[in-house]
Amino acid sequence: MIILGIETSCDETAVCIIEADGPVEGANIRIRANITLSQAALHAQYGGVFPNLAKREHIKNLLIILKEVLKESEMSEAEPDIDAIAVTYGPGLEPCLWTGITFAEELGKKWGVLVYPVNHMEGHIFSALLHRKNVAATNYHLLTPNFPALALLISGGHTELDLMENYGKYRLIGETRDDAVGEAFDKVARLLGLPYPGGPEISRLAETARQGTDIRCLKPSTSDVNLPRPMLHSGDYDFSFSGIKTAVLYLLKKIGPHTSGVVAEIALEFENAVTEVLVSKTKRALREYGAQTLIVAGGVIANTHIRREFTKLAAEESVPLLIPEIQHTTDNALMIAVAAYATAMSGAEGRPLHATANIRADGTAKIC
Ligand code: KG4
Ligand code: ZN
Repeated sequence: MIILGIETSCDETAVCIIEADGPVEGANIRIRANITLSQAALHAQYGGVFPNLAKREHIKNLLIILKEVLKESEMSEAEPDIDAIAVTYGPGLEPCLWTGITFAEELGKKWGVLVYPVNHMEGHIFSALLHRKNVAATNYHLLTPNFPALALLISGGHTELDLMENYGKYRLIGETRDDAVGEAFDKVARLLGLPYPGGPEISRLAETARQGTDIRCLKPSTSDVNLPRPMLHSGDYDFSFSGIKTAVLYLLKKIGPHTSGVVAEIALEFENAVTEVLVSKTKRALREYGAQTLIVAGGVIANTHIRREFTKLAAEESVPLLIPEIQHTTDNALMIAVAAYATAMSGAEGRPLHATANIRADGTAKIC
């Protein structure tokens, strides 16, 4: 089955063409073309994603990227050899989602093929199932989780723990009550004077401080840099990250003028605090639900320290860990096309549903 995947839920315009065959368990996935265009540099000046700017960029770039993936796949534009179209229907920014959905529906009509609506979060889960023998291999296959599997999804718009009882059968067991993890990374980075998106910047600085190489000019003693671990012992599986951001703000006020060493030290403490909360809640959920596989996906799992800590946790708890390759952690169309293949194989069909959006008072996006 040849699937065209489309993802426009936030600030990445992504289109791919995959060729998939076999049952979902172990399915063969061949990537014919896969292009992701990030708008991050454009939104950097606002410190967050502006939905209408993102929509305008999606409109401008979708057709260009489509032509490119068709060319790379050696298909004609008029009658490409496509069996189905997969498009993200939500969650995400409504104007952005509708751009992708409308585009997909028009192509579906023109080519006479079905359009599969894909849940963005389910897409992230499938990004973790994609596996290849080595980095040089061009063909992937889908790993099979042992059910029930526990999925921790950590991105710029979401932080949630889902119990995956089977393909297409998910139960939300906990989520953030305010900021998502990635959002917290981005906001703390902004407070520290680092560019957007802040995740990679904080990660880089924290790693340097962890190795003790860049804290020579640290003014306050290390013990001054203490941040809370919100909801660590709340007894449920919900998260809250906005308090850490406020704590960073007060800490910076208290310290006053500071060196780059202090910035690195705060980045380290912030990353440690976030990781401890994520790992601790996930560990408890693994035990309580008797999870047989741990899946961690979403943009934040690009973080070196978080990857390392979840690798340790899975080993300690003796569960297999499935995490995406770094290049599949951020939003992409590949995960959407693969999730649609799983849906198609289960015999389900459908049309795009209403998407939800959550836009802050200042016009930037909360959910993406
Ligand atoms: O999954 P994603 O591409 O988009 C959403 O669906 O939200 O995630 C983007 C988020 C951003 O907040 C970004 O700062 C964060 O992932 N991120 C990281 C790292 N790389 C990206 N956070 C922490 N460490 C990283 N290395
Ligand atoms: Zn995402």
